[in-house]
Amino acid sequence: MALSSSHLLGLEGVPAADITTILNTAENIKTIFDRPIPKVPTLRGITVVNLFFEASTRTRISFELAEKRLSADTVNFSTSTSSVKKGETLKDTVRNIEAMKINMIVVRHSAAGVPYFLTQCTDANIINAGDGQHEHPTQALLDMMTLREKWGQLAGKKVAIIGDVMHSRVAGSNIRGLLTMGAEVMVCGPRTLIPPGMTEFGANVSYSVDEAMQWADALNVLRIQHERQEKGLFPSIREYHAEFGITRERVERAKKELIIMHPGPINRGVEMDSDVADSDASIILEQVTNGVAVRMAVLVLLSGMDTANE
Ligand code: CP
Repeated sequence: MALSSSHLLGLEGVPAADITTILNTAENIKTIFDRPIPKVPTLRGITVVNLFFEASTRTRISFELAEKRLSADTVNFSTSTSSVKKGETLKDTVRNIEAMKINMIVVRHSAAGVPYFLTQCTDANIINAGDGQHEHPTQALLDMMTLREKWGQLAGKKVAIIGDVMHSRVAGSNIRGLLTMGAEVMVCGPRTLIPPGMTEFGANVSYSVDEAMQWADALNVLRIQHERQEKGLFPSIREYHAEFGITRERVERAKKELIIMHPGPINRGVEMDSDVADSDASIILEQVTNGVAVRMAVLVLLSGMDTANE
């Protein structure tokens, strides 16, 4: 069961058949987690480099765990202790790492397009772990896996993505993936945080979170990305919370069952209150668990190895 590409750079142009293969493989792989020793030899002899030029908790640890559970050899690269600090270029860094005979690179970078750039200077399989404001494909895949577990299918379901859509690579990949899988998507947030062209892209747009909650079956609530924003896109955190924050009162007022998601890290009390994040409607920690399974699936499928007989 091969994918149509040897890299995972984003979900743009990735066919529904590939997404389904990844989600089905992840579902099978997840059964490994319940074994006394949750580890298989599938990627023995394969070396994966985790090249994180930007901070990460969930994605970095999740990839590292996925690699270890598949018995790959893993190497972690950190900008602060590397020769990037001495002015080495990205291309030189990657070509030197490749010369050490590695097979796969997982990369996170603040600049959009870096994963694609790496495909032009190495023969390794490249997996995008988040590039600037562009895409975060494994996050969207784990979000879709978690929703599919709840619903059995994605087609015809309604997902509202709430908040800072403008600066969000999570939104970029979720919109692409969900639309490909036949779900409906609404983006909702302050006008200054919704990029132009969303309707042409196939998403519905609302500037009222209460309206989005009435429309949706699930809410994927985004973090306000202080580090990617110029100042002044909304008046204040207090006003953002009042207008768009997901509070218990709002959820109760909606008078319907809503699935609550967040890619993390959460700004509690800003985009979402603690009593919503920690409520029974929240599947936030299930998303995190599924992240390991999805990343194992992506690593296996791109490597061309098979878990079928393990
Ligand atoms: N969701 C996500 O990408 O989280 P991290 O930044 O902690 O990896």
